[in-house]
Amino acid sequence: MSASLKDTPSLAAVILAAGKGTRMKSGLHKVLHPIGGLPMLDHLFLSLDELNVEHSVLIVGAQKEQLAAYEQRADLVVQSPQLGTGHAVQQAQPVLGDFEGVALILYGDVPLIRPDTLLSLVKALEERGKDCAMAVLGFKAKDPAHYGRLIVDDDVLLTIREWKDATSSERAVDLCNSGIMAVRAPLLFDLLADVDNDNAAQEYYLTDIVAVADRKGFKAVYDIAPEDEVAGVNSRLDLSALEKQYQDRKRQAAMEAGVTLIDPQSVTFSFDTDLGNDVLVEPNVVFGPNVQVASNVVIRAFSHLEGCRIETGASVGPFARIRPGAHIGPDAKIGNFVEIKNSELGQGAKVSHLTYLGDAVVGADANIGAGTISCNYDGFFKYKTEIGAGAFIGSNSALVAPVKIADGAIIGAGSVITSDVAEGDLAVGRGKQKTIKGWAKAFRERMQAKKKGQ
Ligand code: UD1
Ligand code: MG
Repeated sequence: MSASLKDTPSLAAVILAAGKGTRMKSGLHKVLHPIGGLPMLDHLFLSLDELNVEHSVLIVGAQKEQLAAYEQRADLVVQSPQLGTGHAVQQAQPVLGDFEGVALILYGDVPLIRPDTLLSLVKALEERGKDCAMAVLGFKAKDPAHYGRLIVDDDVLLTIREWKDATSSERAVDLCNSGIMAVRAPLLFDLLADVDNDNAAQEYYLTDIVAVADRKGFKAVYDIAPEDEVAGVNSRLDLSALEKQYQDRKRQAAMEAGVTLIDPQSVTFSFDTDLGNDVLVEPNVVFGPNVQVASNVVIRAFSHLEGCRIETGASVGPFARIRPGAHIGPDAKIGNFVEIKNSELGQGAKVSHLTYLGDAVVGADANIGAGTISCNYDGFFKYKTEIGAGAFIGSNSALVAPVKIADGAIIGAGSVITSDVAEGDLAVGRGKQKTIKGWAKAFRERMQAKKKGQ
């Protein structure tokens, strides 16, 4: 992309996010609802980063306090009251009034627009020369509903008609306004100054700058994007549709990068899931945020991973839960119903069944038996369990941390281990077995006789 970026003018972005988002029925600002584990607004900023956008202005209003942290990435400008999309963009004038490049106008609730699509919109504007004021991104709507309509003549955009103000023949047009546009910044605020609110909604429509430009002798053009890319979020239903679309993109990208997904639709990714080539992912796996998986790893069905790194040749699951801070070494094996949190597993270590390891360090080739629990928490503090290379932990053992089991030590099954075990030693911490000869047989005979006598 950087090669094609070379010829583009300097870019600024105005992101509209002042609306109330009523239909989300949420205490959380609409643009903070996550897709692939990342707030919608961050998806937009990631795209803007790819385009080397110089200035970003975020127009805020309702629930604006929730967006305060974005001060790091953009100038936050408050729009109050909210008098329409044109009025919203006008609020950016104190910040972008002197900007000479092209302003991209984006909606905070239209998060999956691709950088390439924005770039080609800017190109469409540039190609038409200085008498072209803007390029608007349209889409062919399957159900045009209440979108604004692009009224075009060949490759020229004549005007945008809002549904409420449109005639029936204009409503019959299926080329709709996505809301996204690229406008020459030195013209933008002049055009907006001439927009009035003499319309059905009594709002200052951003879309009216097309007609204003025409009156002032400037042209407008349009580009067409795939409908799903410019889909917005107004409701939880829309949010789920965008999540699905995003997941499909991630699944496709993973497969293109050499990952096998046996049942792609059942695998859930995070925005930052990083899988090496020849990773095999079985059905029904969830990747939470911050997971890195090296090449040649198998993630078996119904596993849940977050905040962890899995090294090459390892296998995980089925039904494993790998939690933040887990680092699974090369060729290690994590089996079913195993939970691992904040623990380091050495090369070839095996934790095959029914185990919890938290705050543990496990050496290479150690074998952790079924039902082992690292007792890492006393209700107040967390403590470390250290298990040496080649150690063998018998099944159903409780390792009460802090505790250290040295290289090659063996723990007898069913032990509760409360003190350190030295290299090469055996530790058994359980009640001693007592066997009473013939007791079971005698008991059974006694009880059977008693029952007969009743
Ligand atoms: C707008 C477009 C319409 C287009 C549609 C695409 C106008 C006049 N109409 O209509 O042509 O088809 O989007 O979805 O632009 N916002 C503010 N301040 C305001 C008003 C809105 O920040 O005063 C923000 C909203 O938070 C939202 C975006 O602007 O992110 C769009 O506003 P919305 O009310 O949804 O516009 P539509 O009527 O859908
Ligand atoms: Mg809308």
